[in-house]
Amino acid sequence: MKTRITELFGIQHPVIQGGMHFVGFAEMAAAVSNAGGLGLITGLTQRSPELLAKEIARCREMTDKPFGVNLTFLPAVTPPDYPGYVQAIIEGGVKIVETAGNNPAKWLPILKENGIKVIHKCTSVRHSLKAEQIGCDAVSVDGFECGGHPGEDDVGNWVLLPRAAEELKIPFVASGGVANGRQLAAALAMGADGVNMGTRFIATKEAPVHENVKQALVAASELDTRLIMRPLRNTERVLNNAAVERLLAKEKEMGANISFADIAEEVAGVYPRIMIDGEMDAGGWSCGMVAGLIHDIPTCKALIEGMVADAEQIIRGRLAAVL
Ligand SMILES: Cc1cc2nc3c(=O)[nH]c(=O)nc-3n(C[C@H](O)[C@H](O)[C@H](O)COP(=O)(O)O)c2cc1C
Repeated sequence: MKTRITELFGIQHPVIQGGMHFVGFAEMAAAVSNAGGLGLITGLTQRSPELLAKEIARCREMTDKPFGVNLTFLPAVTPPDYPGYVQAIIEGGVKIVETAGNNPAKWLPILKENGIKVIHKCTSVRHSLKAEQIGCDAVSVDGFECGGHPGEDDVGNWVLLPRAAEELKIPFVASGGVANGRQLAAALAMGADGVNMGTRFIATKEAPVHENVKQALVAASELDTRLIMRPLRNTERVLNNAAVERLLAKEKEMGANISFADIAEEVAGVYPRIMIDGEMDAGGWSCGMVAGLIHDIPTCKALIEGMVADAEQIIRGRLAAVL
């Protein structure tokens, strides 16, 4: 398949692996890139710019294909060392950055000066247009189904993607809820130039996470995610578990009076315990409704090539045949 996204990033298949905290290590990014997609290292999972530089170097040893780095701008009182992370990306020779969480305008000049392509992840048409206006090269349009932070507008991809197609000039990928070739074909039909997947890539052989996490995704249905932190306007879609139920009970009880401190036990610092140790009830962890479409644990190569082959077959066969 050849789309504006494969051309922009110099990749074989229009499939991107979105940044994922404590999943997006070098092993994950390299596996996706080696399979012809675009793998992304998650910048902030590395506790310092020095560690990110090492992770980039490790990834380069595992693949000679293009890969990128996700930089998430968090609402934080003491922000991470963003200038240091950007420097590590530039010095590491990385040419693709996925930004998310907040407007990346401040970082665009230095990224552009260094020949880096920027794809910004947005959950609304409004923010996508802003990204286009400030000079981003592409956007990842993340619908309400998505794992992680869907924003506060609650517009699903069935409307969000064609709306993005109406407004945007730069290429965009469909993000949120994607797991198979049927959806890749649908995304292309709705005006996207490819797809971005998070949750689906966790249930792959190469994903560097505990086996319990992969099994939890295979076992889960599309009804098993919950939205947490809505009262804090920092909504996150997570897989339901004992900690999430405890957190939701607190939200119900405390209403608008709730603060981050009240739920810190269920969300702060829980990722290593879940992703590395496999403690599945340690806290809330991002997971999309797409869990309902995950039934196996393939290699990244089998997953991506299977998706592309299925999409091709649908376009050439079923869709062409209805005309
Ligand atoms: C476990 C997990 C962690 C994530 N961490 C981040 C992150 O640190 N930064 C970010 O921009 N997006 C993060 N995301 C969102 C993904 O990059 C992607 O946008 C999302 O998963 C797409 O929806 P899907 O899971 O339905 O495919 C995360 C998603 C998951 C499932």
